[in-house]
Amino acid sequence: MSAEAVLEWYIAAGVDEICGDKPWTEIEKTTPRIIPAASVVVPPKPVEPVRQATTELAQATVTARQNANDICASVSTLEELRKAVEDFDGCALKLTAAHTVFGDGNPHARVVFVGEAPGADEDRIGIPFVGRSGHLLDKMLAAVNIDRTKCYICNILPWRPPGNRTPLDSEIAVCLPFLKKQIDLINPDYIFTLGGSAANALLDIAESISRLRGRWLDYTKSDGSTAKVLASFHPAYLLRTPGQKAKSWADLLRLAREMGIVGEQNA
Ligand code: URA
Repeated sequence: MSAEAVLEWYIAAGVDEICGDKPWTEIEKTTPRIIPAASVVVPPKPVEPVRQATTELAQATVTARQNANDICASVSTLEELRKAVEDFDGCALKLTAAHTVFGDGNPHARVVFVGEAPGADEDRIGIPFVGRSGHLLDKMLAAVNIDRTKCYICNILPWRPPGNRTPLDSEIAVCLPFLKKQIDLINPDYIFTLGGSAANALLDIAESISRLRGRWLDYTKSDGSTAKVLASFHPAYLLRTPGQKAKSWADLLRLAREMGIVGEQNA
């Protein structure tokens, strides 16, 4: 290489200052190589690829949700819907899940209980609320004369998020049509949500569960009729925070009284 070519190469690499009279190729032979800061070529920030990936992800979510909506429009029974959800490939959670956990219980129930997402036990067995949270839920329901033959139990997501992580907004957006269709097909008068995510996703709001619970809310079904909604704590939270069980109990009694299942004297 001629001296001129080496100089041109330095300039192209961003070198704009001379730090010594030896080229760095010589210095390197004797001392550890220290590259002057000015000679480090900093690649431009990859703003565009990230933006493009985000846009693609958003587009994939919109497409998958549209597919979910189309599927929901094409089915008219819970069994058809179950099969369609099992065959659906628009949510990556399915790739890590062992089972699709569809709703369970009475398809003509007056009340639907909605949780967040299957946990490890539900994923293994394929039925919602069969683990520790489910046992607590069953006990609470039994205390107001409700069992799975009298209600329907389902989740916002039919697949377990890996490690029970919080569901992503995009996962909720894609799977929500399946929950709403289940509610349409069952046509309940009452919905009891378990935990803040279920209430927020179903009602399309962003409120803490402590602000939501204790009052009736409305959910509008696709035929325009409404179901009365009570938002309460998630059984997993009650297992961690038993001091809140009394409030959940009050919520459940309120539901049972409104449904005429227990009278004032039981409350
Ligand atoms: N937690 C949920 O929200 N749903 C289940 O099915 C189990 C645990």
